[in-house]
Amino acid sequence: MSYELIQNNQYNIGHICTKQQCEAGRGKKTAMRWFSPRLERSDYTFSDLEGSSNRFANLLKGLGIAKGEVLFTFLPKSTEQIVAFLGSLKVECITGTLFSNFGEDSLLDRLGDSAARLVVTRKSLYRKIERIRDQLPALRTIILTDVAADLSADVLSWPHLMADASETFAVPVTTADTPSVLHYTSGSTGKPKGVLHRHGSVLQQSHTASEVLGLGEDDLFWCTADQGWVTGTSYGIIGPWSLGVTQLHYSGGYDAGHWLDLLQRERVTVWYTAPTALRMLMREEQELYQGLDLNHLKQIFSVGEPLNPEVIIWSRSCLDKEIYDTWFQTETGAIMIANRPGVPIRPGSMGTALPGIEPGILADDGTELPAGSQGNLCLKAGWDSMFITYLNNDSAYRSKFRDGWYYTGDMAWQDRDGYYWFLGRSDDVINTSGHLVSPFEVESALLELPEIAESGVIGVPDELLFEKVIAFVHIDAGIEFTAELELKIRLHIANRLSSVAIPQEVLQLERLPKNKSGKIMRRVLKARYLGLDAGDISTLEE
Ligand code: PRX
Repeated sequence: MSYELIQNNQYNIGHICTKQQCEAGRGKKTAMRWFSPRLERSDYTFSDLEGSSNRFANLLKGLGIAKGEVLFTFLPKSTEQIVAFLGSLKVECITGTLFSNFGEDSLLDRLGDSAARLVVTRKSLYRKIERIRDQLPALRTIILTDVAADLSADVLSWPHLMADASETFAVPVTTADTPSVLHYTSGSTGKPKGVLHRHGSVLQQSHTASEVLGLGEDDLFWCTADQGWVTGTSYGIIGPWSLGVTQLHYSGGYDAGHWLDLLQRERVTVWYTAPTALRMLMREEQELYQGLDLNHLKQIFSVGEPLNPEVIIWSRSCLDKEIYDTWFQTETGAIMIANRPGVPIRPGSMGTALPGIEPGILADDGTELPAGSQGNLCLKAGWDSMFITYLNNDSAYRSKFRDGWYYTGDMAWQDRDGYYWFLGRSDDVINTSGHLVSPFEVESALLELPEIAESGVIGVPDELLFEKVIAFVHIDAGIEFTAELELKIRLHIANRLSSVAIPQEVLQLERLPKNKSGKIMRRVLKARYLGLDAGDISTLEE
């Protein structure tokens, strides 16, 4: 695009996505075409976003929230979530977006670990925070988006605060290394880790939005990801707006009729979505596609889980569109490996490395492996959107790097022509419809139930979700494993963690396989579930 992304050394993401766009003559251009779940439409210009994010920045200042302090939104897809995100970046706060489905444990882990000072939420969700608030001494202020007046001295009304705040705000000149966005990610052991990014990440987010997604001045871009996850912030906010591109946002969930209607009627030109959603669309009645006019849609991109070749083939025949798979992680902040127009697709492959990104396939001992070998997918450290730490856990951060390589936790191989093929994770993290679920967190939550003595949680292949969560439980003697207990278990996981972590099956076992130090062997559970050989079980305690 014709304008300089970084002007006068100003890396501030909030500024670049709003004021800089107005200065480039896009003040009256629609930045956001917003659709409610019932398809009611509201348009917001770049100038609207500039004004409302400035108001939010001013209200933060008024509340004494300063540079470097942490705040979160805890909201479903909403305009307030986006305004708060941009406004807090203008103040150089560290800003996070909590998935609105999170339960109490998930909230407590994140708000507690980050010592968050402020949360923007709505009345119905606030109840979850209220229940844990006494365990969050750093949390000073709650702002509710849907109350007209303040509820108390520290539970305040968004409309009231915003009405009182000024629309002009002087954004400080922000360096590339200033901390910016915080997203928590789950591992296979321990609590979720806070992946901290910097304002300089905008370079890679912007570059990939233009060079991979191909976004330009006249595009209408739709990223279906929820803002609670990295795709929703890197590509549902930052990348496209850093280029002055109009984005469509639909605040409802998956709905084939509404989705196709929006794609057609609004003339979306570039669409970024996820394999589970595409597989769901593939399973819909094919009549839905008759007469559908997607001529203006140039291409579809996908991220988050492996994109199976069947979906690519279906899209070619049913939609007459190519789907380009892309790969990245919360930690990488932006796309690193991708299929993209101009590079022939090899269905099933994640594509090739982007210019400036150097992946490697390494053995466990750090040896670089030749093409065709399976190993750890690593990246040469130092790309612009590389995370700067795991908040309060620098040792975990450092453990991800060795000899200048970042270990992604994925296993892959590279073919002779430079295409990367995903094999799986090197740890036990479960990827269910693009959401990473920690078996450790589900196991711990299960143990909170008095009926459950032991638990082991695994992910197994699933045709729709890529992987599904399976829980094995050993229940206390004298307790019956009834349908009610199973329902209680599912509800408990939804309330404590989130609906994405709910086990699809809960299976009762008399004894869970453990190694000699008493650790539950998920590998053995998985092999037994799948009817496979469990491999070396010499450490199994019988
Ligand atoms: O295992 C890879 C999988 O999702 C992980 C990253 O998840 P998260 O940090 O939540 O970020 C999701 C949004 C980018 C990766 O380590 N993953 C991501 N993209 C792909 C993928 N697996 C296979 N193919 C992909 N294209």
